[in-house]
Amino acid sequence: MKSKNINIYFIGRRQGHSFYRFFPSKIENLRKDEEIGFKKTNNLSRTHNINSANILFYRNKPEKTTDQLVNSLIQQSKKHDDKLVINDINSFYNYDSKDRAFKIWQDNNLLCPKFLAFSILELNDINKISKKIAEFLKKYKKIILRSNNETGSRGLYVIDSVNEIDIILIKLKKRINKLVKYRKDTKIICVEYLETKSTNGYRDLYRVHVLFNKIICFYVSTSKKDILYNSLMSEKEIERFIRKNHEFGLLLPKVKNDILKSVEVLGNNIGAVEFFLIKNKPYFIELNPLWGGHAARNGFGNDNMMTYLLKNKNELINKVPNIYKWLDYKGFYNSIYSNIIDYYNNK
Ligand SMILES: Nc1ncnc2c1ncn2[C@@H]1O[C@H](COP(=O)(O)OP(=O)(O)O)[C@@H](O)[C@H]1O
Ligand SMILES: [Mg+2]
Repeated sequence: MKSKNINIYFIGRRQGHSFYRFFPSKIENLRKDEEIGFKKTNNLSRTHNINSANILFYRNKPEKTTDQLVNSLIQQSKKHDDKLVINDINSFYNYDSKDRAFKIWQDNNLLCPKFLAFSILELNDINKISKKIAEFLKKYKKIILRSNNETGSRGLYVIDSVNEIDIILIKLKKRINKLVKYRKDTKIICVEYLETKSTNGYRDLYRVHVLFNKIICFYVSTSKKDILYNSLMSEKEIERFIRKNHEFGLLLPKVKNDILKSVEVLGNNIGAVEFFLIKNKPYFIELNPLWGGHAARNGFGNDNMMTYLLKNKNELINKVPNIYKWLDYKGFYNSIYSNIIDYYNNK
């Protein structure tokens, strides 16, 4: 029996809505080799006609998404509530504003850092806020001051001294004054720095890829830096990187439910959720609806680290299968789209 073909419709900032409907364009926020993986998927096609779509997939780059766009997409979405929707625009602010994500996680008994959030109006009384932040710092010893809806560590400062608060507040206020014009939910947030430093100075950051209530992949990055990124890793980190990835694979069944719940309660059905582990419990810090970054283009760490990983694949693949699953971008995205089809057919 021939299976039915499923149509998917992509919506982005300049794609799939208002007059952009009439200009077939490159899929927004496309990941390396995603299109190849997509095209390899049986019984799945891209449609340029929303009415013929079975599935809508929102691809708007979060940090560039204006309120105006969100409103317009929400209006459009009302006419299509019969379709399967991936990363529904209606839950956009739940993950885009980190303070909202924290609040939703807290309300659902998931762990995350303690935080304070200040709107642009509250920032008129900067002395009052500065005092609140100083108290917060006294309690948690080390904190992060940042905007609530930027990515890639932009507008992010780690602080451990009261003297730094005012200077950074002024910088951040200028920053968010610009952002708030198009994104009203922009705030300054002050976040407990989750200290997870090991005795030899390393911190490990966990990232798990979730699709329709299933864990599809994960990786753990490790670094001695305060703000850690996968691209910072070098050959020095290889041993720990492999060990931490292996250990997390073993722990996963125990923390799986919390991880799946963290994505679901925000209203997402695809995303990479980031967290730290404290006493083997995940403390969630953010959800990236469409992951990107260094690991999605170049793999793990620097060139030496990648060479090592590729050269030793045969010995390592059983120990850290997740690492090799991730690095096979074509296969990875093919499996994502195949899972989307399976989900659609079984729902
Ligand atoms: N509460 C926290 N405690 C410790 N480190 C944090 C915390 N929040 C963020 N970080 C560090 O800062 C990095 C960037 O923060 P993140 O919330 O992921 O924002 P983004 O990736 O959007 O810039 C993280 O990878 C992590 O290393
Ligand atoms: Mg991040």
